[in-house]
Amino acid sequence: MALKKLSTKVLVFAGARSCDDLPFTIRIGNITGLVLEEFWQLGVDCQIATDDGSAGFKGYVTACAENWLSKNTWNPARTAIYACGPEIMLAAAAQLALKHDVPCQVSMERMMACGIGLCQSCAIEHKTTQPQQTEYKLCCKEGPVFDARDVVFSKEG
Ligand code: FES
Repeated sequence: MALKKLSTKVLVFAGARSCDDLPFTIRIGNITGLVLEEFWQLGVDCQIATDDGSAGFKGYVTACAENWLSKNTWNPARTAIYACGPEIMLAAAAQLALKHDVPCQVSMERMMACGIGLCQSCAIEHKTTQPQQTEYKLCCKEGPVFDARDVVFSKEG
């Protein structure tokens, strides 16, 4: 909603295994086909993806976003991706952002034992300016949102 207040065009891509797994209310929009009620009421456009094709685009949400990017006109200099969800999807979103040279922020999830930076259970590997060297940042204190270019996603390693 903060982005919408800045008069920024916001487009939400929501994905799930199937229609029943989407944590939103799906309705038929006037022109645009299926919309998510919670975003539609805020005037935010949506694209829906389901792995089984039971609603919207059939396939992963990142493939849906890639499909949208290839079929629409948009300005990379005025575009950013904000992603939350399973880490493998965040890694795919990071790759998509890299491919199109747009910034991407990912909201990471970790089990958090203390939540105050003591136990180190929420450490996330990050790239450094030194090739082949990484460092760890704490999701609870330094995140949970990170620049996707800096994160070493588990599927990479
Ligand atoms: S949860 Fe303990 S350091 Fe982050």
